[in-house]
Amino acid sequence: MSAPNKSYDPVEVEALKPEEIERMRDEALAAFAAAADLEALREAKAAHMGDRSPLALANREIGALPPQAKADAGKRVGMARGAVNKALGARQAELEAERDARVLVEEAVDVTLPYDRVPAGARHPLTTLSERIEDVFVAMGYEVAEGPEVEAEWFNFDALNIAPDHPARTMQDTFFVRGATKDAESGVVLRTHTSPVQIRSLLDREPPVYVICPGRVYRTDELDATHTPVFHQVELLAIDEGLTMADLKGTLDHMVRVLFGEDMRTRLRPSYFPFTEPSAEMDMVCFACRGESADDPDRPCRTCSSEGWIELGGCGMVNPRVLTAAGIDPEKYSGFAFGFGIERMLMFRHNVEDMRDMVEGDVRFTRPFGMEI
Ligand code: DAH
Repeated sequence: MSAPNKSYDPVEVEALKPEEIERMRDEALAAFAAAADLEALREAKAAHMGDRSPLALANREIGALPPQAKADAGKRVGMARGAVNKALGARQAELEAERDARVLVEEAVDVTLPYDRVPAGARHPLTTLSERIEDVFVAMGYEVAEGPEVEAEWFNFDALNIAPDHPARTMQDTFFVRGATKDAESGVVLRTHTSPVQIRSLLDREPPVYVICPGRVYRTDELDATHTPVFHQVELLAIDEGLTMADLKGTLDHMVRVLFGEDMRTRLRPSYFPFTEPSAEMDMVCFACRGESADDPDRPCRTCSSEGWIELGGCGMVNPRVLTAAGIDPEKYSGFAFGFGIERMLMFRHNVEDMRDMVEGDVRFTRPFGMEI
């Protein structure tokens, strides 16, 4: 019989002493408790539970112990490792919960904030300007009237005293709608102006008639900086007993004052339109220089080419022939009318230099006008 192998006395294996195992366990528990975040906990785990950790190294010593000592040491180390494992799991859960709570706050999405990834559009300034013009007249008791854009030639020309051989027909470059066969004429055009709405309004109503008719019109013009084949006009018609040119002038002056400022005025220049007699071109004081560039060579104005005046459109007293075509007695009633282009007004009102900007649909053009309702 050989003597017991003293060198394998478990008490002699330093790392497996109960107080050593306890110390290792407590150090691990303290390190986990001290780990402030998941990253620190990962490091503490490697230090206290990894392959090179004191407990793992101690565990390796067990194999060489005699059976009873092996069992005791195995139990001690196992219990310590179990406790360390449990503490790790608990701290891990705690830190994960903290992280989730923090992320919820830090990365919270405020669903009540305005959603602005799709840039907000804006109403087109032509729409808002034409509504403003309507408002001026609705406030005076006028009614807003509309007519079709694909219009009978009779309304667009004949009823307005523009006979088939009248030069004014060719002056307005007309889109004719094709007839059923190659040579047949349809008698239908894309309206070249809003004046046919005058006739439609008169046929629909009994005088007195006070209407304002904004709308889209068409001419066979090439699109360039000052022309577009589709544009907008506003037509006005007032028919009543005893209306005179003074009423026309007063109405025009009122309109430009409301739209452009109290000091605005208009002037009338003799002109010709088949549907008015007498007819006039209407000008307004230049919106930009307020007329001052005309008298002051040191202050040239680009808006009016230093004329002091801007041409707005045409006007006049409704031709009795037009009243007759619409079934109204010209002996009893008279009236005035005017019409002008909204694109042009927008151009000088807002210094828009290129008409193409108005039709290309780029929000960078419309947005600066704001969201006027
Ligand atoms: N319709 C004309 C045009 O487009 C403008 C016009 C002139 C309208 C005189 C009127 C008017 O009502 O009285 O050129």
